[in-house]
Amino acid sequence: MQKCKIGFIGGGNMAGSLIGGLISDGFAAEKIWVAEPNQQRREELAGRFSLHTSTDNLALVNEVDVVVLAVKPQAMQAVCQEISTAVQTKRPLLISVAAGLRSADLNRWLGGNQAIVRSMPNTPALVQSGATALFANAQVSDSQAELAESIMRAVGLTLWLDDETLMDAVTAISGSGPAYFFLLMEMLEQTGSQMGLAPKNARLLALQTAFGAAKMALESQDDAATLRARVTSPGGTTERAIGLLEQGEIRTLFAQALDGARQRAAELADQLGAE
Ligand SMILES: NC(=O)c1ccc[n+]([C@@H]2O[C@H](COP(=O)([O-])OP(=O)(O)OC[C@H]3O[C@@H](n4cnc5c(N)ncnc54)[C@H](OP(=O)(O)O)[C@@H]3O)[C@@H](O)[C@H]2O)c1
Repeated sequence: MQKCKIGFIGGGNMAGSLIGGLISDGFAAEKIWVAEPNQQRREELAGRFSLHTSTDNLALVNEVDVVVLAVKPQAMQAVCQEISTAVQTKRPLLISVAAGLRSADLNRWLGGNQAIVRSMPNTPALVQSGATALFANAQVSDSQAELAESIMRAVGLTLWLDDETLMDAVTAISGSGPAYFFLLMEMLEQTGSQMGLAPKNARLLALQTAFGAAKMALESQDDAATLRARVTSPGGTTERAIGLLEQGEIRTLFAQALDGARQRAAELADQLGAE
């Protein structure tokens, strides 16, 4: 990876996180290019990381070996069409971080026959703790897949999917997932305050508990159900709370919510890729 040049089209939040992660992993800033229309953003990136910035997407494609497409999904078609002639000649590896855009649509907008890795990171990528699913189309070689994985690993955990349709499930679980945990933290915080805790203390207890539970689950060999059973003593407080949640059909509600998110991901991909 150290030998290749990486270019980012779009220098926003996700690109900034990936660049920060790559540089803290020891990747050389002089091998990174960013094309970004916003002058303030370009200056921030250049000031923070000493990398190359410009407003020229085509010049970037002509310079680099890997192009990370990091614009908003709605801007992606125009960007792909703008660079299609250049990528047909240069044939870089293309990595999309855009939510909901299928590799076949990207490939069509790019003129066809392109090596594309579609990735689906989530917002904790902004603090280098993301969970990213990757899918490689048939044109991606093994070495390009390794390269894509090492770039995306800069912002957290990565895993590969063989079947791109599973990206909709990934979107429902980890893409939208941080919001489910934020909701839970919000509810613990609010209820703690209503029970008389100082809001600051309720917040600290809620957040540290979420962090501690995730850390324990990540470090344990046991599954979540076993860990939960272990802290649920018969006749105790946790058993009372979990019993009330089960009585309220929390599992059915969650299954419906996740299925709703999965279906919405497929609808959005249909809409975004329609043209
Ligand atoms: N943020 C996340 O946690 C997250 C999580 C999962 C996936 N993603 C994906 O990451 C992608 C980027 O999201 P983001 O949050 O980083 O958005 P963002 O902060 O808005 O960054 C996008 C950047 O692209 C620039 N841009 C717009 N049109 C461009 C063009 N034609 N050529 C070059 N650059 C252009 C924008 O400039 P202007 O502001 O001047 O328009 C902006 O600075 C999205 O596709 C999103 O789905 C993000």
